[in-house]
Amino acid sequence: MIKAITGTKDILPNEIPNWNNLEDIVCNAMKAFNYKEIRTPIFEETRLFSRGIGEATDIVGKEMYTFLDRSETSITLKPEMTASVVRALLEHSLDKQNQLNKLFYISPMFRQERPQAGRFRQFNQFGAEALGSISPALDAEMILLAYQILKRLGLSNFVVKINSLGVPSSRENYKNLLKEYLSDKLNDLSEESQKRYETNILRLFDSKDRDDQKIMEHAPLLIEHLDDESLEHFEEVKQMLLSAGVPFEVDPKLVRGLDYYTHTTFELVSGSVGSQSALCGGGRYDLLVKQLGERDVPGVGFAAGIERILLAMENEKVMPEFIPQIDYYIVRLEKELSKKVFEIANNLRKEKSVEFDYTQRSVKAQMREANRLGAKKVLMIGGSEYERGMVVLKNMSDGSQEEIAIKEFE
Ligand code: HAM
Repeated sequence: MIKAITGTKDILPNEIPNWNNLEDIVCNAMKAFNYKEIRTPIFEETRLFSRGIGEATDIVGKEMYTFLDRSETSITLKPEMTASVVRALLEHSLDKQNQLNKLFYISPMFRQERPQAGRFRQFNQFGAEALGSISPALDAEMILLAYQILKRLGLSNFVVKINSLGVPSSRENYKNLLKEYLSDKLNDLSEESQKRYETNILRLFDSKDRDDQKIMEHAPLLIEHLDDESLEHFEEVKQMLLSAGVPFEVDPKLVRGLDYYTHTTFELVSGSVGSQSALCGGGRYDLLVKQLGERDVPGVGFAAGIERILLAMENEKVMPEFIPQIDYYIVRLEKELSKKVFEIANNLRKEKSVEFDYTQRSVKAQMREANRLGAKKVLMIGGSEYERGMVVLKNMSDGSQEEIAIKEFE
């Protein structure tokens, strides 16, 4: 039997109400904050992501679904949306039409990671990007938006972690300090961290290796070596979060896995989903647009993993219960009336949701099916009533019945 590819999953009809509910809440929150939806293609030229996300990142180095198409162009299934949104902004000159572009998306993403609970190879994100302003109010707005969406979904067991990565100049100075600190400890680092020491030294803070973690515990912290401008920006973000009533923790070791960040970075981390606990991550990226297209447009954004959020909702027992319902079920008392039932169902379907039996079931079985589908009303067609030009309409909430002329339904 052919099965779905490892790390992908089907979303079955009984799960769809949970997805629709989440998508509605996301769209309503985005509307409240005046973000406009954008949809971009599932695949892009590979160099968009390698340049945008960074050659030394895990995503670009190990996880992208990249292939040559029939005309030998290197194509990649999008592993994230920020680079695609920036490409679309530049390609359509949205930055020239509006000084500030506030955009949101809901879309599948693809990363060839080792699948486990909360980690898939095709997964779905919703997210937002605001392009065109360096105001710390937008950093705070992004965090508030993500926070409010999780709250509106009913989640409470999560924390907001924030950090600042400053600007490249202060970060470069700091990286040298970190290199110095680690220079006599290199041999004690894991193989992976030794590699990262050369390519992406900040990621050493993310190492899962116990010995690495011990070494990094005493490492100098970037936040203690930020320039004044970065510190001021970060201070304003914190003040605005306080005034918005968003509880947060400053986590100086929050470095994130993508290279494009400057200033604020943040994650919303769940205590209900096991090791893949980041529900949402984001930050400011003032240099990415320039890097991809020669125009200077600062940006800030976040993305959230829908599968992980739904898992958190299930584990926190806040998933709303959806009871299936249809307006009408039509019960056919005699087999010969199938055509009539078909005609009436299709008339009613212009305004109402309607189902009937396609399999010649007994009247009893049809009634059982009407109950199973949550029919509000059952229309019974046949018998002496039908001969008199009438049908019986049963109201399923109180069991009451009335006769109505069949003409009303024709
Ligand atoms: P990210 O941290 O790579 O950031 O992903 C954001 C969220 O997507 C994660 O917190 C997680 O919930 C979900 N996610 C990531 N990988 C997987 C996976 N393999 N399976 C299931 N869920 C996953 C970004 O993607 C940035 N583009 C965020 C951003 C937007 N920064 C600025 N603007």
